[in-house]
Amino acid sequence: MSATIIDGKAYAAGLRTRIAEAVSGFARQGVVPGLAVVLVGEDPASQIYVRNKARQTMEVGMSSFEHVLPASTSEAALLGLVAKLNADPAVDGILVQLPLPKQIDAQKVIEAIDPAKDVDGFHPINAGKLMTGVPGFVSCTPLGCLLLVQSVRRELAGLDAVVVGRSNIVGKPMAQLLVGQSCTVTVAHSRTRDLPEVCRRADILVAAVGRPEMVRGDWIKPGAIVIDVGINRVPNPAAGEGKTKVVGDVAFAEAASVASAITPVPGGVGPMTIACLLRNTLQAACVRRGLEMPPVDMARG
Ligand code: GUN
Repeated sequence: MSATIIDGKAYAAGLRTRIAEAVSGFARQGVVPGLAVVLVGEDPASQIYVRNKARQTMEVGMSSFEHVLPASTSEAALLGLVAKLNADPAVDGILVQLPLPKQIDAQKVIEAIDPAKDVDGFHPINAGKLMTGVPGFVSCTPLGCLLLVQSVRRELAGLDAVVVGRSNIVGKPMAQLLVGQSCTVTVAHSRTRDLPEVCRRADILVAAVGRPEMVRGDWIKPGAIVIDVGINRVPNPAAGEGKTKVVGDVAFAEAASVASAITPVPGGVGPMTIACLLRNTLQAACVRRGLEMPPVDMARG
């Protein structure tokens, strides 16, 4: 058996196109959704993310407000900026890039963001809404993962799902989303006993642990849908001295020979995160103005 390779890059491009169409419809009514992204410090990976977010925000026709603050910024100064963005009517969504420097309590900052503008879905109000099945903002990476699962299988009720990883950003919200789809969900983590055996029960396996190629082919149930959230840079001596490559948390070739569908790394979950951020910003703009959210999630036809 050879798995379907789930093309996250293409899905994300389609999602952005549908968002852009919706945004141009709103523009005719004088509504322009706005996203503020705050970066504190000079972490190179975060700088790349923030640049990509700003570019893609503008490409779909939204306003992008970028705030780059020095690594020495105080917690009080950042909380002051968040308060200003909360009060700014042109700002529909606020994202404070994580991680934050040591002197800043990230949880305090997350809780300072107006839940109605929390397009990351990290505020306890939105986490609680997800848990209780009330509409709110869902974290972008798990939302992207669910959309990719549903791109190959719409009805998930009764399936066994295993999420490897219990972070607040991915693992926990992913588990809640799958419970919301009536899956039977196991959250596995570093202390789980016999992880390979637990994974072998999964009709849907989501790996979000940050350990290169940890999930092997013989951990996969034949016919499973495998979603690989990992982005791990590892040495690639075959390409030359000092060269590196990006691999996921799943040993791709092994898993692809057992699964029915699998996301590649790169080009799977990664591109979905920013597309879902734009989707959430559109949702924020709609909710704040009492407009109906256009159906952008699924390809038509
Ligand atoms: N750092 C890595 N991923 C994310 C994300 O989805 N949101 C924020 N705010 N920071 C991140």
